[in-house]
Amino acid sequence: MSRGVLIFSLIVASAMPAVVLADITLESILPLAPYFESFQEVQERYGYELMYLGMIFLMLVTHWIGKRHNEILAKTTMAVMLPLFRANFARVGDNGAELAIDAPHEYIIYLTGRRHVATVHGLIKMKPRQDIIRTLFTLFSNPVQDTCTLNVTMNPDVYSDGVFAVVPKSTGTAVRNRFYDLSTFTKASNQQALDASLITLTESNELTEAILPLVSEKLNQAATWLDYFIVSDQPTHKPNTVPTEPYAKRISLSFRLPDAKNAREIVPLVEALTACLDGLARDCHVSTVIKAKISKARDEAVKEIGKKEQAERAREIEEKRFREKREQEKNLSPEAQRKIAAKEERRALKKRQRTVTKKA
Ligand SMILES: *[C@@H]1O[C@H](CO)[C@@H](O)[C@H](O)[C@H]1NC(C)=O
Repeated sequence: MSRGVLIFSLIVASAMPAVVLADITLESILPLAPYFESFQEVQERYGYELMYLGMIFLMLVTHWIGKRHNEILAKTTMAVMLPLFRANFARVGDNGAELAIDAPHEYIIYLTGRRHVATVHGLIKMKPRQDIIRTLFTLFSNPVQDTCTLNVTMNPDVYSDGVFAVVPKSTGTAVRNRFYDLSTFTKASNQQALDASLITLTESNELTEAILPLVSEKLNQAATWLDYFIVSDQPTHKPNTVPTEPYAKRISLSFRLPDAKNAREIVPLVEALTACLDGLARDCHVSTVIKAKISKARDEAVKEIGKKEQAERAREIEEKRFREKREQEKNLSPEAQRKIAAKEERRALKKRQRTVTKKA
């Protein structure tokens, strides 16, 4: 929520009691209305009601203004991306709507019908300007940004596996830590071809050489707005179980939104994304040696996940055994229960004594 809107709403809301008062003193309703000597008297009798009315009014006004602000921002952003979407995808949107509203601050993009691409799921997520309580809350906790994320699910097998990303230097570490694929497989590296504010996170130089030329120029043009650009064949969050089939290959682009009148500034970022749709299939084929290296890294990762899965299963079995034992004990007679408790106590005591002697 912009401060301007907040202040405006506050002024409007505080004007509300005055409007109510003006009505009360109107000649026409005077005979019906109770007569008050002064504003103070009104305030004394109706103070809380006026305050509540003001608050409700403030909420309604901010809801309306905030919702409208977000709607304009989302629609303008979509409008500048739309020509690119239309040129690249046979189908834009779902059920006739190019942009679907999910909440007053969340709009959904869906694209499909393109060679090498399965689907694109996008989300324009803005500050919850329509909700004054949440807005105040986010003001004091973590500031929310207006962002757009586009997740492209690519068809498998049309280009080499690997994890590669371009991120801002300033937030690169945070982004790398947030995503399992980036933190497990990539290292940061500076690139001549990139704007000084950007770096790559990459699994191999050969991968960088194949992908970076497709996107560097475009990403540089709108570097200020970029959150991340990621090409990956691995999941964003660490899986709990060993995969039974390959993960989906994807390209993810996330960027912050300029205000509506500068919406065009983000277009180069989307162009970088669309350049990859054919570009990866054409240019991204690493040598056999690198392919083997990338494949080995995946095997290691799977082994690690397998270990975790086994440990988890062992813990579950142990827990189940413990529960069953407790259940059985509950069904015993009080006498038997007491015996078991005494036995356990003796055992614990013995253990304590053993550790004490060991220490001594
Ligand atoms: C895009 O992918 C990221 C990472 O998996 C996920 O957190 C996000 O919710 C996805 N967004 C959309 C719109 O699908």
